[in-house]
Amino acid sequence: MSAVEGSGHAGDTGRFRQRDADVEAAFFLPFLQPGMTLLDAGCGPGSITCGLAERVAPGHVTGVDADPARIETASSYASDAGTGNVAFLVADVNDLPFDDAVFDAVFANGLIEHLPDPHKGLAEMKRILKPEGVIGVRSPDWGSALLQPDAEPLRHSISLRNRLQRHRGGHPEAGRRLRGLLIEAGFLGVSAGASAESHGADDETAEGARYMHSILDDPELARLAREHGWASVDEIEEMRLAWTAWAAQPGAFAAFFWCHATGRAPTTP
Ligand SMILES: C[S@@+](CC[C@H](N)C(=O)[O-])C[C@H]1O[C@@H](n2cnc3c(N)ncnc32)[C@H](O)[C@@H]1O
Repeated sequence: MSAVEGSGHAGDTGRFRQRDADVEAAFFLPFLQPGMTLLDAGCGPGSITCGLAERVAPGHVTGVDADPARIETASSYASDAGTGNVAFLVADVNDLPFDDAVFDAVFANGLIEHLPDPHKGLAEMKRILKPEGVIGVRSPDWGSALLQPDAEPLRHSISLRNRLQRHRGGHPEAGRRLRGLLIEAGFLGVSAGASAESHGADDETAEGARYMHSILDDPELARLAREHGWASVDEIEEMRLAWTAWAAQPGAFAAFFWCHATGRAPTTP
């Protein structure tokens, strides 16, 4: 997974805390009941998946991810955690290897923003949900960043990051679109909300700077920036230094929204 794919507070560039169902899936937990079958779409390293499995036990959770390395990590995580009611498999959410109407719930954290055609993935998720089955999706919105202190090179670097994600078929501002996407996909009773990811302690601002450095150090970004005139080598170096200086400020703070939406599959497909 590239740095942009791993964006958020648990990217590949460093994990200052492991993703956790109590936090990332807080909006979805009230919809879950013991005995449910649940799909975690784009499950990544599996920590949220195992938390969801605890919530629906003795029901069963399946985690799918397109990246075999992620599935290997998730399987080891579940085995170390002793989570028995979970299985992981490599699968593309655009073409799920399940019959129609077999799951009570589908969850996707940090996935929709990476799908070149979110409608296709959501149609698959609707297909495998039972009538009135529940969906919960959650994505960041990179158009919502608060930065203190604020500076042009920091903003420029965020806009470069977003260009790179768009170039790879992703959607940096997916968060604000989730409600509309679920409605367009045919889910009913759709509602949305948001929470903030904040970086307001020394380890968190350092992690934020490390994450942005990892983007700016990506050789593909340098090549694309040169080819498309997005930024010069000197400008990219200036952005790097700006993030180092930002994180070193005692009052540095950053926050941005993660948005979520829930809905239900219709009673007839
Ligand atoms: C940002 S990570 C989020 C992982 C996990 N849900 C979490 O919140 O910790 C996005 C994950 O989606 C997976 N992914 C991206 N496109 C996918 C697709 N078409 N089908 C299945 N998984 C996909 C990536 O491999 C990656 O593991």
